[in-house]
Amino acid sequence: MKHARLPTTCETCVLLLLMLATCTTAKVFPVPTTEDTAHWHQLGWSDLQEAITVASSNNWNVAKNVIFFLGDGMGIVASTAARIYKGQKHGGHSGEEGSLTWERFPHTALLKTYTLDEQIPDSAATATAFFTGSKVNQNTIGLDGTVFKDQCIASLNPKTWQTSILDWAQKAGKHTGFVTTTRVTHATPAALYAHSPNREWECDAKLGKLGHGCRDIAKQLVEDAPGRDVKVMLGGGRFPLGATSGVATDKWSCLRRDNRNLTNEWLLQKKAYGNNAQYVQNKQQLMDLDTEETDYLIGLFSDSNMDYEIDRDDGPSGQPSLTNMTSVAIKILSKNKHKGFFLVVEGGRIDHAMHNTQPLRALEDIVALEEAVRTALSMVNLSETLIIVTADHSHVMTINGYAKRGNDILGIGHTPSDIDNLLHTTLMFTNGIAYNHYWNGTKVTRPDVRRENTSMLGYQPLSAIPMTYETHSGDDVAAYAIGPMSHLLHRMHEQSYVAHVMGFAACIGPYTGNCTRPINQWGT
Ligand SMILES: *[C@@H]1O[C@H](CO)[C@@H](O)[C@H](O)[C@H]1NC(C)=O
Ligand SMILES: *[C@@H]1O[C@H](CO)[C@@H](O)[C@H](O)[C@H]1NC(C)=O
Ligand SMILES: *[C@@H]1O[C@H](CO)[C@@H](O)[C@H](O)[C@H]1NC(C)=O
Ligand SMILES: *[C@@H]1O[C@H](CO)[C@@H](O)[C@H](O)[C@H]1NC(C)=O
Ligand SMILES: *[C@@H]1O[C@H](CO)[C@@H](O)[C@H](O)[C@H]1NC(C)=O
Ligand SMILES: *[C@@H]1O[C@H](CO)[C@@H](O)[C@H](O)[C@H]1NC(C)=O
Ligand SMILES: [Zn+2]
Repeated sequence: MKHARLPTTCETCVLLLLMLATCTTAKVFPVPTTEDTAHWHQLGWSDLQEAITVASSNNWNVAKNVIFFLGDGMGIVASTAARIYKGQKHGGHSGEEGSLTWERFPHTALLKTYTLDEQIPDSAATATAFFTGSKVNQNTIGLDGTVFKDQCIASLNPKTWQTSILDWAQKAGKHTGFVTTTRVTHATPAALYAHSPNREWECDAKLGKLGHGCRDIAKQLVEDAPGRDVKVMLGGGRFPLGATSGVATDKWSCLRRDNRNLTNEWLLQKKAYGNNAQYVQNKQQLMDLDTEETDYLIGLFSDSNMDYEIDRDDGPSGQPSLTNMTSVAIKILSKNKHKGFFLVVEGGRIDHAMHNTQPLRALEDIVALEEAVRTALSMVNLSETLIIVTADHSHVMTINGYAKRGNDILGIGHTPSDIDNLLHTTLMFTNGIAYNHYWNGTKVTRPDVRRENTSMLGYQPLSAIPMTYETHSGDDVAAYAIGPMSHLLHRMHEQSYVAHVMGFAACIGPYTGNCTRPINQWGT
């Protein structure tokens, strides 16, 4: 089957070299000189050829493996900005005409992100939709729609517990794992294994009065199926897992009060059954691991969330990249030759950079996610591996007009306002911390952005209304897919549909023995 051609490792090297050679402070990047009419007609023709081929070569195989990539908060706007950013920073050219790896996947759909009770979603309810196949209420994890946030007693009724694709995959004999740059107990991974009416109950210290009698998310990960049967989990979160004591590093740090070392309990539990279980804490330890000999792996690379890609210490005692974690996870999980695996990889901090209205940090994290996707593609057999790349929700960032082709995506456009005659950055937020309007003695005005270094690390473009933590937005997100059954993502869908596509593709969960293909291509 023919698919959009993906860059080879060698081309990636060339790109990196180009990047080193063209590191300048230039604000306008060169536009390709070949964009004449013939170019667009040629491009249209080759896209047509590809579309015709794709339409007649849908892959109806059973997906032995499924890899689900999630860019937390990576709305379509962020993805577009990252496409341009990648071309400019990593390619030294204008960028608009380029593409992110997943943008060349044969199938793309749109997903509706609203939750049962809110128009604008949060990551707990969206992750639950992705992994259980049903929409639920905001801030709740792995429960059904009868339970609302903080309803501890209602959540204790097992009838409200939804099974997730992690469970479906394990019941089918697949190896399972997840990789994230957030804490392993954060909302997205938690929806794979926990049932909690509040996403913040990551450790016992956060249960509070409302959570009295409920079990924290970390405890569910280590003590309950399907969490305890996960073969590989990599991310941040030593605090909630009791691997270290100390002082909180951020407001989400969840230091255990019961003094249990769940990381050690996890190791002992695996070893008691004769498994080779490993705990790694830095990049070197992860990369030195003997993946052939390792049955179970937990990697906790920071006390709370891992660092943003741009801030990450890349040395041996620092943190691994998302790519490093993804490749180790695939190596261990793919040892299950006959039954295959299910893996979730989350670029979890795109969302945090957006909440802090720092586009540069967010775009670097998206480029890091893209590299992880590219690495995964090079390691799997696409005839039997379904790969989906999507986002849980979007943010209120916008790409506002007008700027010339090739203009620095982190820079300033060329069109001053016809009201105050001032310029603005291309990327802006409708709400957020950087509400820099001020009284100039005559009226309320805003800064002259030409005096600011808009591509500086940590730069926060102007927001329309003040808010300490920028909000999510309610627009649709895209889902890009390749591999068996990827064509089932084909129009606007509900977010919860994605679990059904993965389950049907792999013939697991509700689709065990219930995944008849209209076209049977097995062995033909
Ligand atoms: C918890 O257990 C892990 C794994 O054995 C160990 O590395 C760590 O030092 C322990 N942490 C504490 C606070 O005892
Ligand atoms: C870790 O990932 C980076 C890219 O993110 C890559 O350049 C490097 O080679 C990887 N390290 C190892 C040891 O595989
Ligand atoms: C890829 O998977 C297909 C379907 O399972 C199989 O027929 C083929 O031999 C595999 N290719 C390689 C290179 O392993
Ligand atoms: C304040 O801003 C207004 C509109 O931009 C401008 O006309 C006026 O001259 C400014 N006043 C001062 C004191 O700078
Ligand atoms: C803006 O900040 C970036 C990143 O710190 C730096 O490389 C660049 O030189 C700065 N530009 C100016 C004009 O100061
Ligand atoms: C197949 O799965 C669907 C969705 O879960 C379910 O409604 C249906 O009853 C199942 N059919 C069979 C024959 O199991
Ligand atoms: Zn968020």
